[in-house]
Amino acid sequence: MEESSSIVRCSVFVLCLVSSVFCFDDFEQNATVSTSAVYIVTLKDSPSVHSSSGRETSVSKHSLASTSSQTYRTSNRSASIVRVHDSLLRKVLRKENYIKLYSYHYLINGFSAVITQQQADRLAAREEVDNVVLDFPVKKATTHTPQFLGLPRGAWLREGGSEYAGEGVVIGFIDTGIDPTHPSFSDKISGHPYPVPPRFTGVCEVTTGFPAGSCNRKLVGARHFAESALSRGVLNSSQDDASPFDGEGHGTHTASVAAGNHGVPVVVCGHHLGNASGMAPRAHVAVYKALYKRFGGFAADIIAAIDQAAQDGVDIINLSITPNRRPPGIATFFNPIDMALLSAVKAGIFVVQAAGNTGPAPKSMSSFSPWIFTVGATSHDRVYTNSIILGNNVTISGVGLASGTRTMHKLVLAAHALRNGTTIMDAIYIGECQDSSSYDQKLVQGKILVCSYTVRFILGVSTVKQALITAKNLTAAGLVFYMDPSSTGFQMSSTPMDIPGILISSPQDSMALLQYYNTSLSRDNASGKIVGSASVARIVGGMKPTYGITSPKVMYFSARGPDPEDNSFQDADVMKPNLVAPGNSIWGAWSPLGIGTADFQGERFAMESGTSMSAPHVTGIAALIKQKFPHFTPAAIGSALSTTASLTDRKGGPIMAQHAVLNPDATQTPATPFDMGSGFVNATAALDPGLIFDIGYNEYMKFLCGINGSSPVVLNYTGESCSAYNSSLAASDLNLPSVTIAKLVGTRTVLRWVTNIAATVTNETYTVGWRAPDSVSVKVSPAKFTIGNGQTRVLSLVFRAMKNDTVASFGRIGMVGDRGHVVNIPVTVIYKIAV
Ligand SMILES: *[C@@H]1O[C@H](CO)[C@@H](O)[C@H](O)[C@H]1NC(C)=O
Ligand SMILES: *[C@@H]1O[C@H](CO)[C@@H](O)[C@H](O)[C@H]1NC(C)=O
Ligand SMILES: *[C@@H]1O[C@H](CO)[C@@H](O)[C@H](O)[C@H]1NC(C)=O
Ligand SMILES: *[C@@H]1O[C@H](CO)[C@@H](O)[C@H](O)[C@H]1NC(C)=O
Ligand SMILES: *[C@@H]1O[C@H](CO)[C@@H](O)[C@H](O)[C@H]1NC(C)=O
Ligand SMILES: *[C@@H]1O[C@H](CO)[C@@H](O)[C@H](O)[C@H]1NC(C)=O
Ligand SMILES: *[C@@H]1O[C@H](CO)[C@@H](O)[C@H](O)[C@H]1NC(C)=O
Ligand SMILES: *[C@@H]1O[C@H](CO)[C@@H](O)[C@H](O)[C@H]1NC(C)=O
Ligand SMILES: *[C@@H]1O[C@H](CO)[C@@H](O)[C@H](O)[C@H]1NC(C)=O
Ligand SMILES: *[C@@H]1O[C@H](CO)[C@@H](O)[C@H](O)[C@H]1NC(C)=O
Ligand SMILES: *[C@@H]1O[C@H](CO)[C@@H](O)[C@H](O)[C@H]1NC(C)=O
Ligand SMILES: *[C@@H]1O[C@H](CO)[C@@H](O)[C@H](O)[C@H]1NC(C)=O
Repeated sequence: MEESSSIVRCSVFVLCLVSSVFCFDDFEQNATVSTSAVYIVTLKDSPSVHSSSGRETSVSKHSLASTSSQTYRTSNRSASIVRVHDSLLRKVLRKENYIKLYSYHYLINGFSAVITQQQADRLAAREEVDNVVLDFPVKKATTHTPQFLGLPRGAWLREGGSEYAGEGVVIGFIDTGIDPTHPSFSDKISGHPYPVPPRFTGVCEVTTGFPAGSCNRKLVGARHFAESALSRGVLNSSQDDASPFDGEGHGTHTASVAAGNHGVPVVVCGHHLGNASGMAPRAHVAVYKALYKRFGGFAADIIAAIDQAAQDGVDIINLSITPNRRPPGIATFFNPIDMALLSAVKAGIFVVQAAGNTGPAPKSMSSFSPWIFTVGATSHDRVYTNSIILGNNVTISGVGLASGTRTMHKLVLAAHALRNGTTIMDAIYIGECQDSSSYDQKLVQGKILVCSYTVRFILGVSTVKQALITAKNLTAAGLVFYMDPSSTGFQMSSTPMDIPGILISSPQDSMALLQYYNTSLSRDNASGKIVGSASVARIVGGMKPTYGITSPKVMYFSARGPDPEDNSFQDADVMKPNLVAPGNSIWGAWSPLGIGTADFQGERFAMESGTSMSAPHVTGIAALIKQKFPHFTPAAIGSALSTTASLTDRKGGPIMAQHAVLNPDATQTPATPFDMGSGFVNATAALDPGLIFDIGYNEYMKFLCGINGSSPVVLNYTGESCSAYNSSLAASDLNLPSVTIAKLVGTRTVLRWVTNIAATVTNETYTVGWRAPDSVSVKVSPAKFTIGNGQTRVLSLVFRAMKNDTVASFGRIGMVGDRGHVVNIPVTVIYKIAV
């Protein structure tokens, strides 16, 4: 009974550990004061970002002029906003107990405070108050990937090489912090001067664990946000780093994937595994820590981090969090984080978010809004394989970043090497090699120790690192893990080992190893006890990666569309994810003190998997686009990434998607937009997209106003009245580089505006082609058009349901220019009703 329940629970945990997100239960908090809780209160009056002089009140429909964050300097208005918050609290809660945590003044005008439900109600009743919501918990959702993405000879070359790629762009990371001593973030790099962009005004906090001098011209800002966590009593400063220092590892890893220095040697377990580089190695890094290793984070702290990042003048926000559950209310888009990010987008900041690691079920997406760029995860083409040759000449392959043994050695199963006095009853998990005191050193020395990889490894209770300590203590010649039935189907990753070693993930191969071992068991003459086997084997090293397996492939853990419009599982007319990028077995910088992954404790680099790893790849490439086109709006950057995505794998076949956690490759099918959005990021093509589909803040507002019954919620969140927009926009009419129609009844016409931004050519003639989704007819006009530089054209797309059909179907519209540009947009129609 005990056993089976732990396995059931494991299927939930597996995803978390595999993909290294934080897993923690909903802390629907019992706050410090029994009935108090953290509430986020927003006011109707505008924040400082919206009140600076000179802001255009109506963004012209397709102007590419970015309302750059630079335009908005904090004025003394911020100070007066804070005073208003304090005086409101004093007025309404006169002489009562409350704690204000933050005043938000830049992107949103509001504050968070520890108050009771009754106090919250009284604040909500005030005329100047817009919205009062309960704070909620959130979770966290490489040496080779630049080559795999074609950066050195493609995108970087166009930007002047790795020593220029990303220069002048500041990326804000909202994550678990950073290890400032890591060489990936050093500014002592050769080459031309490396100044901090003058418009960046962020600061570097000095706290215990984050001494003065931690920042430099590469790592330009670092702060931490923990007021909500503190007020709940979950932050323990002796266990959680109450500083920007990364005690987990995740933040250091992803910052290095996006913007780590070029050519930093990766050394793990004493093995040199090549050199690492971020996607945009010359971009600057600003860290806003709001996630903590033991408990994750809370919306009130995240919003403070976003508000500060925007105020400091970052160009791109890389967001590592997804809500623990789907936001309630009339639409998923209306939650405090997405609404704060809408303000960031209004200020010209491109926002990248991970799709989540909750795949592969449909609607498992935890990133919702069309103004956020959502990234799913694929495999890439490098694998480290090694093998073990048995005495019967059978070769078994496995994984493990380890060297090999020079000769054949005897095998000994851990359970057969027990010290006198240790019984199976003493140690139930004796096969896992976690404690050297259980084993008899004389029975193990010079042999290959055979251990069992049980579900407890997946849960992180037992570790490969601990087994290595055991094997070294017993002076074993090597270490082999076979797959215990409790972890069948789990995808083992290449774990670094400092003695010869291998992990065998296939159950069949594990069986073959044990059968061979059992053919020649040795017994102790006196006791009759089994004390090993005469069977022998040799481990062949796995330090050399092999390339070129069929990839990219959408990983089983990557969250899938369709985009849920609300809690009742209506589908939104919005495509999610937007794109996929490498997110499996990604090398990145690691904090040696990081506890996120036991197998990499003490190391400076770690290999991680998850959509958290794919998002920073896109963040880095977005920095390259921002560098080349400083005036692009966030939507224009997203369009450049989307329309140029590639649709085929390295062998020219369709990109495949895995559909099950167990034996994922047996379930793969060609990926649809629900799996991969527009496709796999192509950095080279994204820097020369030809045409752009642009969207301004006003269109996002019209889209929100077009949601049934949304006006009061829009007013509550943005302080803006839908009537001021005197028109609304259906989601499928938002000028996205994709078309999604959840329900097509009869005929529907949607319009798209394309703008030619290819500066090097004057006129380009595009020919439009398309493939209609099943049961739908498509017509695009004009089918051919010539467009001058800077010009905008409108395309009319007519969709007609040909027969009743409830199965989602997919098509594509492609525009091929005579100057070499290819612009693709995916089409998804879910329900079709022919009339
Ligand atoms: C609050 O705490 C009590 C006891 O500590 C616990 O039983 C209860 O489930 C908690 N409530 C929530 C919402 O966490
Ligand atoms: C803002 O206030 C400070 C004093 O608090 C003053 O020195 C400064 O000139 C003010 N700036 C503006 C733009 O009014
Ligand atoms: C708007 O905010 C007020 C005050 O917080 C709240 O009472 C009301 O329910 C909110 N309306 C909507 C539609 O969310
Ligand atoms: C914080 O953690 C330490 C152990 O690291 C423990 O001794 C202490 O009681 C904890 N403090 C709180 C307030 O939980
Ligand atoms: C790795 O970087 C080191 C210097 O950091 C350099 O000497 C070496 O040539 C690089 N190796 C490769 C393969 O780029
Ligand atoms: C294994 O192969 C080698 C040479 O390939 C051969 O000499 C040896 O007899 C084989 N051993 C067994 C057990 O088949
Ligand atoms: C364990 O006991 C067996 C006999 O029962 C003996 O031969 C062996 O030497 C003992 N091993 C140790 C390490 O004491
Ligand atoms: C193995 O560990 C024991 C304690 O568990 C220690 O006494 C012994 O010295 C260790 N041996 C080696 C070779 O590290
Ligand atoms: C970047 O964003 C991704 C996805 O949201 C996240 O998982 C990752 O941790 C972030 N990286 C940093 C350094 O903030
Ligand atoms: C990426 O784009 C470039 C330039 O358009 C093209 O040459 C290359 O084939 C594309 N790569 C893939 C994998 O589609
Ligand atoms: C570009 O096309 C316009 C018509 O669309 C034409 O008037 C103009 O002469 C063309 N310019 C060039 C340089 O071909
Ligand atoms: C499709 O379904 C609608 C309503 O469900 C029905 O009125 C219509 O006749 C059906 N059309 C066909 C071609 O079956």
